[in-house]
Amino acid sequence: MSDADRLRYNQVRARLTAFGQSHVLAFFDQLDESAQQRLLTQCESIPLELLAREVNRWRDHHTLERVTHAPIEPARVVAARDVDVATYRALGERMLREGRVACFTVAGGQGTRLGWDAPKGTFAATPILRKSLFQVFAETIRSARLRWQCSIPWYVMTSPQNHEATRRFFAEHDWFALENSTVRLFEQGTLPSLTPDGKILLAQRDAIALNPDGHGGAIRALNASGALAEMERESIDTISYFQIDNPLVKAIDPLFLGLHAAHPESSGEVSSKAVAKRDQHEKVGVFCRRADRSMVMEYSDLPPNLAQATHADGTLVHSAGSIAIHLFARRFLEEIARAGHELPLHCASKRVPSIDLETGLLNESPTSSAIKLESFIFDTLPLAKRSLILETSREEEFAPIKNALGDDSPQTSAQAQSDRAARWLEHCGAAVARDSHGGYAATLELSPLTALDTEQLARHPRLPSRVDAGSRLAL
Ligand code: UD1
Repeated sequence: MSDADRLRYNQVRARLTAFGQSHVLAFFDQLDESAQQRLLTQCESIPLELLAREVNRWRDHHTLERVTHAPIEPARVVAARDVDVATYRALGERMLREGRVACFTVAGGQGTRLGWDAPKGTFAATPILRKSLFQVFAETIRSARLRWQCSIPWYVMTSPQNHEATRRFFAEHDWFALENSTVRLFEQGTLPSLTPDGKILLAQRDAIALNPDGHGGAIRALNASGALAEMERESIDTISYFQIDNPLVKAIDPLFLGLHAAHPESSGEVSSKAVAKRDQHEKVGVFCRRADRSMVMEYSDLPPNLAQATHADGTLVHSAGSIAIHLFARRFLEEIARAGHELPLHCASKRVPSIDLETGLLNESPTSSAIKLESFIFDTLPLAKRSLILETSREEEFAPIKNALGDDSPQTSAQAQSDRAARWLEHCGAAVARDSHGGYAATLELSPLTALDTEQLARHPRLPSRVDAGSRLAL
């Protein structure tokens, strides 16, 4: 080892020792030179202070929520029926025509619950044509570009685990007829996985076990990848954010854009959409207020007494469920990134194969749970001066694919997509057959290229006047 390498090694070791993490170098002497360099580089990139702080917090309190005792109140939610829809919509359409809006999908998650090994965006989601989630969003963006004659670049955040597979999928599908240069894939960062007592795990003798750093990592990744700078160059000031799992998302919603830009409840920094929670058990974050700021409390952090609390009429007090759809001002994210503001880290348990420090062998089926640390993008809400929360309809905008079976599964999502198409056709005058329970008796699929809403569908030249029971129709 050269003197410079020895110095570097000593510095890394001293830092790790100061944070009780020197075991990471347990096999250092057995590694070849390039593996030693790789491991040192990895060690240098670990935010040890941040980890130590968050682990202590976790150890003492297990959830962030129990650390902060300020009372929370229900969210203030704005409904479309209470606003001048035409004016705000027109404003949103102007923002689109002026080319000020980009779409942003977070697609770095691992899709474990769905049991889908490939990137989740490749999952066949639609009821008849089995289009992938990526294709549904691509068609939405293409349709909006055509309708408002504008650019709308699309940013997609992947993780190191699925970046290459995602890129290949887009390339194989010829970027879904979006110009390749208008779709930008970039990777999010990672954080070490830890033992329950806060020790960094090794995935191999020469590599730390890492997990994606949560969608809160998007801010750093957007900045580091140059995406924010690129948006600034292209005069994009508003980012339409959505998750990979919801094929009903209105990725481009002029009314929401207009409200975000000009409604008195909005400071124009971050706005969100909410639906009424199905019941107290639904696994969605809830919007609430603390110290006069809006926030989302994640379902895993919501104390049971708050989750169960009801009004006299039986409705939930904390009923505003987050469907993970937001609009961000580009400047707001830039300021957070430039200030180096760290969003809080949340802890989740996960089984992580790791090297046994005694034997040096990989334990592939660990019995004890490791800790995965993640930051959440919705923890930006309390940083905004005012934050608009728009109530919307679950039937129209939220049918996520999360679980293999049961609620929020491919089956419930396909049904909701078909039902929405049926409702839109009925709205445009078609007679859609119903079953004896009043449900729709046909399977329908509407491409976003056919219509982004009922107004556009009504102008379609070949609308069916009736849809018979048992038929399958893709438009
Ligand atoms: C999420 C929200 C929840 C909301 C619900 C609505 C979180 C933590 N919770 O729950 O408040 O009510 O959706 O459907 O988000 N992702 C990354 N990188 C990561 C981790 C996740 O890009 O490191 C992406 C995933 O690809 C996915 C999204 O973030 O698009 C949500 O992740 P997931 O962990 O599945 O959250 P949910 O439990 O579904």
